[in-house]
Amino acid sequence: MLRIEPSGAALGAEIVGVDLSKTLDDATFDAIVAAYHEHEVVFFRGQTLTPEQHIAFSRRFGELELHVRADRCRPGYPELFVVSNVIENGKPIGSQDAGLFWHSDLCYMAEPSRGSIFYAREVPIADDGRPLGDTLFASATAAYNALPDSTKQRIAGLKAVNSYEKGYYRDRKSGGRPPLTEEQKRRTPDIEHPVVRTHPFTGRQCLFVNEGYTSAIAGMDGPDGETLLNTLLEHATQQRFIYRHRWRVGDLLIWDNCSTQHLAVPDYELPRRRVMERATVRGSRPF
Ligand code: OGA
Ligand code: MN
Repeated sequence: MLRIEPSGAALGAEIVGVDLSKTLDDATFDAIVAAYHEHEVVFFRGQTLTPEQHIAFSRRFGELELHVRADRCRPGYPELFVVSNVIENGKPIGSQDAGLFWHSDLCYMAEPSRGSIFYAREVPIADDGRPLGDTLFASATAAYNALPDSTKQRIAGLKAVNSYEKGYYRDRKSGGRPPLTEEQKRRTPDIEHPVVRTHPFTGRQCLFVNEGYTSAIAGMDGPDGETLLNTLLEHATQQRFIYRHRWRVGDLLIWDNCSTQHLAVPDYELPRRRVMERATVRGSRPF
């Protein structure tokens, strides 16, 4: 039987006693989903998974996205977006600069992702044995709940503009990305979502803005809008809302893209290798 061990932070729990390479019975899968909704980030240590097994487990959550950057997916597996610093035959095997700003995956789409299922194949290790390349997760429900009532009232019903292009070109400065193609641009027009989003499964309220992709409060073009957005962004990622994941090879971690946002810590470089693979579960229109 599986066991849930909460991290002690505002979010995050380890699930112990599950082998994800096996087909799980419905009761076990339902218990995982319940823990995922409750803790917003859940992880399993010590998993040995083929790409097929990673995809099969992920599919039980719903249909999978094919990333807009097809050239950064695992060859033969368009469902697996690769995040890595490794270069093979002169070509990066994955995205080298994913997640350098706080964000939630696919928030710039009309139907943002329900969750991302991230598998650690290679983790960089410091000389003293510590893992490098941690990922930070911030609870968007804890952030919402901690807002002053006056702010909650002020932002109720507001929408924010989310822009893939904004995030892409800012990241690009740090990583030398090619310009977006017309096809990529066509797939990612700017989109408005509620600033406060209701979680489609738990009904919890989530503060759904992030520094990576949220470019403005809709209809507030002046300095007031900018100040409000910056206040919300700063509020959302305070230490008290954060769980920091220290990766080990064989971790499989699931994060909720409605109730959390995340940030990569780029504190390593080659020859220390990092190879991670992400399956991305399709979500629904925010409300
Ligand atoms: C991602 C991402 C962060 C990391 O894959 O969506 O943001 O630590 N990754 O690699
Ligand atoms: Mn991400």
